[in-house]
Amino acid sequence: MSGHGDPIPMTAHKASALTGTAEVPGDKSVSHRALILGAMAVGETKITGLLEGQDVLDTAKAMRAFGAEVTQHAPGNWSVHGVGVGGFAEPEDVIDCGNSGTGVRLIMGAMATSPITATFTGDASLRKRPMSRVTDPLSMFGTQTVGRSGGRLPMTLIGAEDPIPVLYEVPVPSAQVKSAILLAGLNAPGQTVVFEAEATRDHTERMLRGFGAEVRVEVGERGQTITVTGEPELEAQSIAVPRDPSSAAFPVCAALIVEGSDVLVPGIGLNPTRAGLYQTLREMGANLTFENEREEGGEPVADLRAKFSDKLVGIDVPPERAPSMIDEYPILSVVAAYAKGKTVMRGVKELRVKESDRIDAMARGLEACGVKVEEDEDTFTVHGLGAGNVPGGATCESRLDHRIAMSFLICGMASKKPVSVDDGGPIATSFPIFEPLMEELGAKLERT
Ligand code: S3P
Repeated sequence: MSGHGDPIPMTAHKASALTGTAEVPGDKSVSHRALILGAMAVGETKITGLLEGQDVLDTAKAMRAFGAEVTQHAPGNWSVHGVGVGGFAEPEDVIDCGNSGTGVRLIMGAMATSPITATFTGDASLRKRPMSRVTDPLSMFGTQTVGRSGGRLPMTLIGAEDPIPVLYEVPVPSAQVKSAILLAGLNAPGQTVVFEAEATRDHTERMLRGFGAEVRVEVGERGQTITVTGEPELEAQSIAVPRDPSSAAFPVCAALIVEGSDVLVPGIGLNPTRAGLYQTLREMGANLTFENEREEGGEPVADLRAKFSDKLVGIDVPPERAPSMIDEYPILSVVAAYAKGKTVMRGVKELRVKESDRIDAMARGLEACGVKVEEDEDTFTVHGLGAGNVPGGATCESRLDHRIAMSFLICGMASKKPVSVDDGGPIATSFPIFEPLMEELGAKLERT
């Protein structure tokens, strides 16, 4: 879907306490990959716990356009009848990935080494985001690309007829770029090698192994090298998608800042390449515990318990932690506003090319809520006011960005005056049950 229909203005009023259990939906990253790898496998992949957010639904639709049979049997319960590596059909129409950078970049990689042509587009947010970080390495396989200036969508990819394997050093820490190359490497002969200086989320590598591909990871002093052997026969799998740590961040952080709260968020995937926020919150003095730690479907999982924390302190968040919490800086900056002293987030320039420029979006909204911030290209600083001390009383722009919209609504649950967002519509891309789930815990949300 391009665009999001009419804006849905929303307001969060101060909540008395948030209590209960918050069952957040499936992991967005894992859900995209389950559909895409399912489509590239032979036979029927069964998926439980699939996130039914718009981003993932757009990927499901795209996989159908490339020839896979994708079926929903019950909520969260899906199957994908794959066409095999190199078996993608040419889509009859433009592939619209809506708001999803992960969707479009991974799908570009998956089709880039098949002799077919596909045109991609997305909503106003996605059409602003850089695609050359993916199409540059894909061109090394022999893929041709025609797009708008600056490597923006809409863009047409002509898949390589005789792909050659690639050796590529990823210039920015990005799991999307790494994954696009690995997926393209599947239909190239020989070994495709990706080098990343900083480890990013490794769901693609884990899932590829689960489907039977040969994936080798070597960790060296400068970073890690990931090698995939091309032309495997991927075998259909059963995949249980863990709950999303990036969605869990919202009820967890709300509980930390709303007085009297005690919230359990069960079954959260805590892959170390995703769990940086939780380490950061603990360093800030959050009353946050992991219960019942276990492994599910090859991913570490725990139940998170978060309680109101009136002694949060600002900290320095080191740049090397950024890849493991890249989507969590918007909500962290809200928690930082309720901590005492300054929180400095370093090495965060990638936030400027997410669904919105997330540094600018958070800076302007927090200022409007009475919080002092500082920013430069790569650093974001929030001067915390302490528990209960954020004035609020503003309407913040969500800029077609689900995480910005949710972050400001959480901010309003603990601020003196209500906080509104101009459009809560984008929340449906990743967390369609955000509103009822937070209300069930005791949040006072209103569509205005
Ligand atoms: C994702 C990777 C990250 C993240 C995005 C999901 C993925 O993006 O921000 O929400 O599933 O691979 P980058 O690869 O651009 O860092």
